[in-house]
Amino acid sequence: MDNQGPLTRSFYLLTYGCQMNTRDSEIISGLMKNNGFIAAARLEEADLVIFNTCSVRHSAENKVYGKLGEVNKLKLSRPGMLIAFGGCMAQLPEVVSKLKNRGVDIIFGTHNLHQLPQLVERVLSGEKKAIEVWDEHGEVIEELPSVRQEGVSAFVNIMYGCDNFCSYCIVPYTRGRERSRRPQDIIKELQELAGDGFKEVTLLGQNVNSYGRGLNEIIDFAELLQMADKVEGLERIRFTTSHPKDVSDRLIDTIAEGRKICEHIHVPLQAGSNTVLKRMNRGYTREHYLELTQKMRERIPGVSITSDLIVGFPGETEADFQDTLDMVQKVRFNGAFTFMYSVRTGTVAQKYSDQIELAVKQERLMRLNQEQYKIALNINKGLEGSVQEVLVDGPSKTNPAKLTGRTRQNHIVIFSGAEDLIGKLINVKITEGKTFSIFGQLQEETNEP
Ligand code: SAH
Ligand code: SF4
Ligand code: F3S
Repeated sequence: MDNQGPLTRSFYLLTYGCQMNTRDSEIISGLMKNNGFIAAARLEEADLVIFNTCSVRHSAENKVYGKLGEVNKLKLSRPGMLIAFGGCMAQLPEVVSKLKNRGVDIIFGTHNLHQLPQLVERVLSGEKKAIEVWDEHGEVIEELPSVRQEGVSAFVNIMYGCDNFCSYCIVPYTRGRERSRRPQDIIKELQELAGDGFKEVTLLGQNVNSYGRGLNEIIDFAELLQMADKVEGLERIRFTTSHPKDVSDRLIDTIAEGRKICEHIHVPLQAGSNTVLKRMNRGYTREHYLELTQKMRERIPGVSITSDLIVGFPGETEADFQDTLDMVQKVRFNGAFTFMYSVRTGTVAQKYSDQIELAVKQERLMRLNQEQYKIALNINKGLEGSVQEVLVDGPSKTNPAKLTGRTRQNHIVIFSGAEDLIGKLINVKITEGKTFSIFGQLQEETNEP
């Protein structure tokens, strides 16, 4: 603001939540840049601070409210600074009514993020507040500008929304009904990414297995993966998230057969007890899940299976929780995101009267993590001595003198090597597997000259 011309304004974007939001933020950046804004290096210098928020758990919302408080304070000393608030929290009416007296100038929802530049313009032209949140999505909008994060890996939406209505989850309310992008639009985007030098793509959807429903063309997710596998220039294809109730045999075979399709499936179990699964409205049993994951292990050599797990869902007894621990031991997840159940306004589980005390949830989470860490350590130690194909991401965050990359199974490996390896596929011999990290040594022979 201070030394820029009247037409150059800067924005700073704060992104919370899942990969969908990361991808949306790339689009928000593209929209703002196309409308004459530049990215500010620091929040303190920005003319416009944009929040792209997540409401999946209370803790996610709290983080946002905390930061909003800070930014509001800053705003007092910087007259003219604007705050825009979007993402999943903005889709919730009770959040929007709270925000009205919290210094927020612009509110936009997930279904109309493309309108952000116009909303900002309205406030710059004198409107006091611009609030526009659509209850429902319109047509899938293609060709929105975006500024991709730098790196070797890119996120690509294949579908939006979710129709599953798991009883604990807010996502179907914040992201609307399920709709798929047309396969030709997705493949075109993959080709462009390959042309821009990206080596890896992650196909995104809340439930990628239902890809294709509602499209004119007859296509399912397995077929889309087969098409993606043929895109020249890409080295690796990943996807998330798979719902256990509709992973097809065809999908398993496609992963097994695909050259670029990585042997990693994120297929959240959520809970190990059939009673809890039923009340979560997950649509499968523990027996189905075991059978499914056994099939994956048989047909996809070396497959890595990861999960999300929730403890303390309403009514969860100690015996139910033991069922979750038992599944963790039986399936042996390569990794798991573990959460304490968090009540979400408007969901079915909010109405359950048998909510679990915080102390019990905390204690179960601790026991679950202990169990999962043991398994992860064991799996990682089992990799010692093996040679893994690693796609090099960049300098390690914990030790910038070293490089980090990921195996096809999505294990992160830390090793020494020259910077010109970034973006390349190389062979690394695993020297030490720990609970949260794996160390390796570069092999002479690489997959690329
Ligand atoms: N569509 C994905 C997950 C989206 S949300 C899927 O179905 O797997 C990511 C994870 O957050 C979920 O898998 C679940 O484990 C967790 N989660 C969602 N709602 C939650 C809640 N109310 N409390 C605690 N964890 C929750
Ligand atoms: Fe939420 Fe269930 Fe949909 Fe995943 S599948 S986003 S957990 S409702
Ligand atoms: Fe993602 Fe959070 Fe929304 S997990 S879909 S950003 S509620």
